[in-house]
Amino acid sequence: MTDIRLVTFADSQSLGWYAADLFTHIAHTSVTERGRFLVALSGGGTPNALYQMLARPPYRQSLPWEKMVFFWGDERCVPPDDLESSYNQARKAFLGQVPVPVENIQRAQGELPPPEAAREYARQLKTYAEAEMDWPRFDLVLLGLGADGHTASLFPGSMQPMGTAVVAVQAVYQDRPAERISMTPAVFNSAHNVIFLVTGVEKSAALAATLTGSRDPLKYPAQRIDPADGQLWFLADEAAASQLPDVIPDVTIRRS
Ligand code: 6PG
Repeated sequence: MTDIRLVTFADSQSLGWYAADLFTHIAHTSVTERGRFLVALSGGGTPNALYQMLARPPYRQSLPWEKMVFFWGDERCVPPDDLESSYNQARKAFLGQVPVPVENIQRAQGELPPPEAAREYARQLKTYAEAEMDWPRFDLVLLGLGADGHTASLFPGSMQPMGTAVVAVQAVYQDRPAERISMTPAVFNSAHNVIFLVTGVEKSAALAATLTGSRDPLKYPAQRIDPADGQLWFLADEAAASQLPDVIPDVTIRRS
């Protein structure tokens, strides 16, 4: 079982600053140790505070942008200029304002039919994989948590085939259809670092179930995230952490 580091914050802004510092530390360590920083971004609203910080001082000046490669852990099946596109969200929040080489922005082609988009993204992943692997070991994966316990586009009630890198997903979320592609736990669990960003009281039950509930990954897909040889972080504001006990087995808890 991975040792999990949980850090809680009074508010989402202080969580954002901590996340930006941690992102920067991991980026520099990865470039020093491996010559590149391979990161899979998350969609959703929670990471926006972090993304906007990365385009501003001190992060804009300190990050090794030319050695950073961006993927998305999942993507909505919409064109890249759609407001729903996670790529478009990150481009507007920071990627369009910083000197990342264009070839280092590896968006999923949400405009393609989902099965084709999934196959194409798996091909893109393989081009960054170490020999004999079908996907790279990401230096960092950012994930959110849905109120229903989903993460990326791994929704309750669905299990991904083992050994697959990217799947096409048909789901219903927030009472509307969600057509997406998603990297699978196999990819996420090979990462060096995985950080969940969780804010808001509406996430408190899902976070408590994920960290302290009985093991039920079909019901709580975020429980599938368990890096084999990596560090797992949960950064949560006090509202999201409000249903957590003071002590959780296998979890180091720090209040920031
Ligand atoms: C997405 C994410 C999804 C998100 C959660 C939490 O594309 O929306 O992959 O898993 O992280 O739904 O979303 P919020 O951050 O908006 O609460």
